[in-house]
Amino acid sequence: MKMSVIGCGYLGAVHAAAMAELGHEVVGVDVDAGKIAALSAGRAPFFEPGLPEILASALASGRLRFTTDIAEAGGARVHFIAVGTPQTKDSYAADLTYVDASVAALLPHLGDGDLVVGKSTVPVGTAARLADAITASGSGARLAWNPEFLREGFAVKDTLEPDRLVYGVADPADAEVLDEVYQRALGAGTPRIVTDFATAELVKVSANAFLATKISFINAMAEIAEATGADVTRLADAIGHDARIGRRFLNAGVGFGGGCLPKDIRAFTARAEELGRGESVAFLKEVDAINLRRRQRVADLAVDLLDGSVVGSKVAVLGATFKPHSDDVRDSPALDVAVRLKGLGADVVVTDPEGLDNARARHPQLLYAAIADEALRHADLAVLVTEWPQYTSLEPADVGAIMRGRRVIDGRNALDAASWRAAGFTYAGLGRG
Ligand code: UDX
Repeated sequence: MKMSVIGCGYLGAVHAAAMAELGHEVVGVDVDAGKIAALSAGRAPFFEPGLPEILASALASGRLRFTTDIAEAGGARVHFIAVGTPQTKDSYAADLTYVDASVAALLPHLGDGDLVVGKSTVPVGTAARLADAITASGSGARLAWNPEFLREGFAVKDTLEPDRLVYGVADPADAEVLDEVYQRALGAGTPRIVTDFATAELVKVSANAFLATKISFINAMAEIAEATGADVTRLADAIGHDARIGRRFLNAGVGFGGGCLPKDIRAFTARAEELGRGESVAFLKEVDAINLRRRQRVADLAVDLLDGSVVGSKVAVLGATFKPHSDDVRDSPALDVAVRLKGLGADVVVTDPEGLDNARARHPQLLYAAIADEALRHADLAVLVTEWPQYTSLEPADVGAIMRGRRVIDGRNALDAASWRAAGFTYAGLGRG
């Protein structure tokens, strides 16, 4: 099938390459000429495991191309909208500028029977509004909403082997078109939920709200553990054995960040308030507050470990990205901690295997080291904030040999406390007594 993908960021670039990999003829469109040039040359403009490989094979097959000219989307049967919906500068609401602009730019190129498929995360009600605009254009095109649940770091796998598909449609025939799109990605048992626009939009935001709540729940337990001497990791293991709770997404630490969870719960709150249902999701403000408190907790622990003041101490911050296997530093707890420590007067050096360029662009005031050893050398304190395997597998004795002081804060509860203590370190985890 011929298709276009409008927006070639983390979501769209992976989606375009994956659709070509599934055998479709795909054109990826983006307004950023630099991004299009890179993608056309087979270079992924961001770090995503597996993307360079499928990009290369899709380009070589001749089924994938990229352009800045949206007119080239004309003639495709399906048009995916995969542009960003960031948080607006002055409020919690989602900024729909890019979604609205891409649909408006697409309208003149739509043909009868085309299906515009929204993948971006949007406030509930957006799809109905866009469907009206498409109907009013008189093109004969239709709209479907097909939220994307991919996780960065696993984006290729999540797109090629989705754990479920959700189609928000106004006409059941549109679901058949989507079945044709995903035919080769649908496993025998892949659940497929066909529903209305509002439910499809809400599935995405409620899934992310639930995940954020699960993380903040365990981080709230970490706060109680800190006041009582309990160990939140053991607690998570114990309650996680209850199949109704489950152990996944119960890792206490410095909390969630990234381009999705923080802004999605805020946009959800803003939309619920617009709908007069603010109280229904008022708890999400608490989820956000718990999450942000964990960042300050790491800074407070640093002050404690450095005997009351970080001024003049060298602190190695291990990690810049919001999670491992990504170069994404959007709303990264790691960088927030680094900024807080620098604000307190510490001599901070941040290291990360993939995120340094993005980190530098956002926080040019921080010092960076390309390799961990350089950050750790003569440091008084090491703070693990992103659980890259490179850092969780560090040998405590080797680290101790190059540091000035033997202190470590495990902001992700990902280190083996006993072996760090055995190497003479003062170890502090989050929610661990
Ligand atoms: C998330 C959703 O998982 C995905 O389904 C949706 O499509 C987009 O948003 P992503 O932002 O890629 O995906 O990251 P995710 O793996 O969900 O992690 C989000 C944040 O939560 C990270 O900062 C991570 O470190 C943190 N986290 C995750 C925890 O603090 N504890 C956990 O137990 C799990």
